[in-house]
Amino acid sequence: MELVDMYFIQDKISTKKIYNSSKPIILILDSGIGGISIYTEIQKKFPNINYIYVFDNAGFPYGNKHEIFIIKRIFNIFKQISSKYSISLAIIACNTASIISLIKLRKHYIFPIIGLVPAIECSISRTRNGIVGLLATCNTIRSAYIRQLILQYSNKYKIITISSNRLVNISESKFIGKKIFLEEIHYVIKPWLNLLEIPDTIVLGCTHFISLRDELQQIFPKNTCLIDFNKDILYRINQILNYKFHRAKSSEENIVFCTCINSKAIQISLLLKRLGFTVFKKLVLT
Ligand code: DGL
Repeated sequence: MELVDMYFIQDKISTKKIYNSSKPIILILDSGIGGISIYTEIQKKFPNINYIYVFDNAGFPYGNKHEIFIIKRIFNIFKQISSKYSISLAIIACNTASIISLIKLRKHYIFPIIGLVPAIECSISRTRNGIVGLLATCNTIRSAYIRQLILQYSNKYKIITISSNRLVNISESKFIGKKIFLEEIHYVIKPWLNLLEIPDTIVLGCTHFISLRDELQQIFPKNTCLIDFNKDILYRINQILNYKFHRAKSSEENIVFCTCINSKAIQISLLLKRLGFTVFKKLVLT
């Protein structure tokens, strides 16, 4: 996934904070567990930060929902979190939500917001046979943003797509330790495997798919390159944090929010505890 360029707009909403921390707080948001792979990478590089991870399990999955529904939820989450915490940086670790809401969010909030989008440009520079496969959600693939990118490269490269909500669910199942079947993943990507010329570079254009990398690598021919997200994100985060906080250390606890408490959310929260999220709460949306 690639980083959408960051910009700041003046006259944005200012909010009164209940918990005003002098420490940097990074908010990471996804519909489910997809953003965890992104969190893990970021946390390795920036361990002394407070992390708030929100998984909108009441709105899950985003991939097949109406655009207005997703925008409303993301705005609602941002409103609730930013009214309680001083967010230093927000990362939308969800391609579907980024494509739909990033520009609108940046017009409303003063803190920097990074969004992940499918790493098409990275894959174009890597492909050897000129065929790139984009694996993402329905909303991502039919977005104007992706259609425009496909058109832009169409005279030199072939970008073919598969949208799958099934893979999103398989990824969630894998995370909570349920048995997943390679045949099911194979079935989703079969249309590409039957082609005369198979894409040699695959963009994992949904953060959920990053956790299925090993399974996908087993199914595709050995030399297939799987591209998850653009590591420039780490460089950007560094720039933002160094500029604003000069490597501030934090002792606050990392918090995970869900939007609906059920047995799966509790299972996820227990797994997230091992990843450093010691507090688990429900985020009430208005
Ligand atoms: N993880 C999200 C993405 O990157 C989508 C999953 C969903 O459909 O909710 O697009």
